[in-house]
Amino acid sequence: MVKFVGREAELQNLHEMLQENNQVVIAAIAGMGGLGKTELALQYAKAHRKIYKGGICWLLAKTGDVGIQIVQFARTQLDLNPPEDLDLPAQVQYCFRLWREGNVLLVLDDVGEYQQVKPYLPAPSSRFKVLITTRQHFGASIKVLSLDVLQAEAALELLKSFFQETPQRIEEELAVANQLCEWLGYLPLGLELVGRYLARKQDLSFTEMLRRLKKKRLEQPGLVKPEADMTAQRGVLAAFELSWQELKDSDKQLGCLLSLFAAAPISWKLVEQCLPEEDEEKLEEIRDDKLWNLHLLQRKGEGIYQLHPLLRKFFQSKLTGLEQAEELKRSLCKVMVAVIKEIPDSPTLKEINDISFAIPHLGEVTRNLIQYVSDDDLIWLFFGNGWFYYRQGLYNQAVSWYEQCLEITKKRLGEEHPSVATSLNNLAYLYKSQERYSEAEPLYRQALRIFRRCLGEEHPSVATSLNNLAVLYKSQGRYSEAESLYHQTLVLLQSLLEEEHSDIAVSLNNLAVLYYCQERYNEAESLHQKALELMRRLLGEENLDVATSLNNLADLYESQGRYNEAEALYCKALEIKQRLLGQEHPDVATSLNNLAVLYESQGRYKEAEPLYLQALNIFEQRLGTNHSYTVSCRKNLADLRDRLPPNPE
Ligand SMILES: Nc1ncnc2c1ncn2[C@@H]1O[C@H](COP(=O)(O)OP(=O)(O)OP(=O)(O)O)[C@@H](O)[C@H]1O
Ligand SMILES: [Mg+2]
Repeated sequence: MVKFVGREAELQNLHEMLQENNQVVIAAIAGMGGLGKTELALQYAKAHRKIYKGGICWLLAKTGDVGIQIVQFARTQLDLNPPEDLDLPAQVQYCFRLWREGNVLLVLDDVGEYQQVKPYLPAPSSRFKVLITTRQHFGASIKVLSLDVLQAEAALELLKSFFQETPQRIEEELAVANQLCEWLGYLPLGLELVGRYLARKQDLSFTEMLRRLKKKRLEQPGLVKPEADMTAQRGVLAAFELSWQELKDSDKQLGCLLSLFAAAPISWKLVEQCLPEEDEEKLEEIRDDKLWNLHLLQRKGEGIYQLHPLLRKFFQSKLTGLEQAEELKRSLCKVMVAVIKEIPDSPTLKEINDISFAIPHLGEVTRNLIQYVSDDDLIWLFFGNGWFYYRQGLYNQAVSWYEQCLEITKKRLGEEHPSVATSLNNLAYLYKSQERYSEAEPLYRQALRIFRRCLGEEHPSVATSLNNLAVLYKSQGRYSEAESLYHQTLVLLQSLLEEEHSDIAVSLNNLAVLYYCQERYNEAESLHQKALELMRRLLGEENLDVATSLNNLADLYESQGRYNEAEALYCKALEIKQRLLGQEHPDVATSLNNLAVLYESQGRYKEAEPLYLQALNIFEQRLGTNHSYTVSCRKNLADLRDRLPPNPE
């Protein structure tokens, strides 16, 4: 016998529902296939059989009319003889009246529609208690215990119970065992089948089992066939198949569409956008009356839905046979591209948070459906993924998306394509952020070459490329090369754009920074003022480019000993960055560090220390311990502490 795990609260709950409130005569355990509804009812009946002195009558609702079964039971088990001339409900009531003394538990296992059982229910406050298990959502008048999957610990416990004689098998691969539980979505049926299968196959490792499951999914033999002594009579696929058969074509299509999303909460708005031809209300009806009603779909919050991981795999397997499969895939891709294109150029932290719900799906589509994305949209998906992480200062995650982007654009579009150049640019930009200068340079150069060849010399993309390369050279201290490129950029931009354009302002700012590095302070200051004025006018105050520019100007003031002016600008830049990027971004850390340096040079050591600490913490988390920003911030802090008087403690 398999060990019964978890469900303590549920058992208690059931008991209270049926016993403590005398009004309730009927309680339903509801949930998807394989969840353990029948098992819970069994365990309940076993645990409380003593209080049901009138006996327990267990009927399988699917095997025939419930009324006939009740009468049959009464005839054979209780020797009752309801008069044949009564109609069936009356015969049932007759049996209830003359049933053996004491409380009775009537279990109706696996009920489809509530209407099937309604005519035969005992009167309220009678000694009969009815416990139903069902995959349906019944109406509000019935007390329902909504069952969920097992907790992670209980799931592992269930898996472990199959290895009582060879516990080392699971102990040695505990991490993989946990992954198995997760893959199975903590569904008891899946866990039991896999546990039994592994127990039978003594040479099969958990790792290999997980690999096979990932490959064959619900067709993997372990999930297919139950053993004779199990409560469940079917494998996972067959259990789900029962619900599938209740669906109409349009229900099926919706289920399959949902399976294309990631195994994560799905905003219903996205689903609607994928099916623009469908009527909103009709979709809602399918969602609520069919998928949700049959426990094939979970509601996770307002307008948020999710498929159980195994149901998701089930629907995916059905998708291959669906006529609209290709269309659905293409449609989802388009919707995800649209989501990215809607992100404003300089989004606030809130705007980033607002799209974070779409990120898992964006990743899923980019990984698995990229062949359904049009050439024009290709880089958008990767860009959206990478950029989401980049903006949070999570450069490593961002790099991997940008690297894939380059590989795929090259393969799909050939080496000489503007999208390839954009990919090169993006990747190089990230490499630069990670101080991988020598890797960045050839990519920038290649991008520039491609842009020039494909778009001609007179093109904004060429200007962007020149500017990027100049920034890189500046970071490497190659000032004269940088200067000539900045001038080229400016000339080009001025010929392409109207005088008042934020790109020109950014370019002026860059050149000013270069002058500052070359200690040409007067030229730097006047350019900075000009750039800042232009930016503020075109972009408003709440903008990252403005913050950068303020910061740059503050650097300049500081080096000239104009501390008060510098402080005001650093603080302003810091505030803007914190609002737009959050507290944990490397750019925020840079500002904190700068401000601390300023305080330190004024002898305000006590104020400097916490800022260094905060900055160092962010740098270490986001850029790693060896990045030059981290190293220099750590050194700053150590130097400062050398100057501070020793701590009295
Ligand atoms: N808490 C548990 N501990 C151990 N095994 C469990 C537990 N819950 C369920 N199982 C096992 O998982 C399998 C599936 O459970 P069960 O048959 O009760 O699911 P169900 O919800 O009734 O599914 P269906 O809707 O298909 O009837 C059974 O073999 C059962 O023994
Ligand atoms: Mg069942």
